[in-house]
Amino acid sequence: MEPDFWHDRWESGRIGFHLDTVNPWLEHHWPMPGVNRGARVFVPLCGKSFDMLWLLEQGYRVTGIEISQLAIEAFFSEHRLEAQTEPAGQFTRWRHKGLDVLCGDFFDLDKSLLGPVDAIYDRAALIAMPPALRPRYAAQLAGLADRDTRQLLITLDYNQPEMSGPPFSVAGDEVNRLFGDSCSIELVDSTDVLEENAKFRDSGLTSLREQTYFLIHL
Ligand SMILES: C[S@@+](CC[C@H](N)C(=O)[O-])C[C@H]1O[C@@H](n2cnc3c(N)ncnc32)[C@H](O)[C@@H]1O
Repeated sequence: MEPDFWHDRWESGRIGFHLDTVNPWLEHHWPMPGVNRGARVFVPLCGKSFDMLWLLEQGYRVTGIEISQLAIEAFFSEHRLEAQTEPAGQFTRWRHKGLDVLCGDFFDLDKSLLGPVDAIYDRAALIAMPPALRPRYAAQLAGLADRDTRQLLITLDYNQPEMSGPPFSVAGDEVNRLFGDSCSIELVDSTDVLEENAKFRDSGLTSLREQTYFLIHL
């Protein structure tokens, strides 16, 4: 998707992807093995995800990146968090205690600006990418990770012709194709979530699985 697609979503409030509670799969699987309290967690395409605050409250340091300034403003104001802002390369960094959010394009981020990361939390980031952009997304993420960076990846798997994304379906074989060269991959959960997702059922989906993976960057 082009940045304008997302700017338009935020400007018009069409943000059905946003959850006002902590993501149940994050709560269930965190901390993933090898991630200790105090670890630095990178959250690509973070939106105004409540999960960032939850991770912070659990004692982790969190760095998000998000292209929409509106989303970042909403995150800080809705949680009544005072933020310091400063330029960081071509990004603006919003900072509050152990949390910082970079405003700008994920594909422009380089490792020297991001620094070391112990873990990556991807919920609704990979599956926000159309097929053609996914290899670039995976390569960029691999370039931002360190050896042994852990990654929690949450995807959706459905019959793509039944609905146009985002969110897109990203099945297990594609996760393997995208990350298999740079990561070890373990599928830790695969749950049928069609029943509780009326909106997707109404869009015509006949099956929907939410899948959780543990990745370790090599
Ligand atoms: C589907 S939403 C998911 C947000 C968040 N992960 C969540 O769970 O609520 C995707 C987000 O990625 C942002 N985004 C899309 N392309 C981006 C890019 N190239 N760089 C940074 N953010 C981007 C969008 O503005 C949007 O907030």
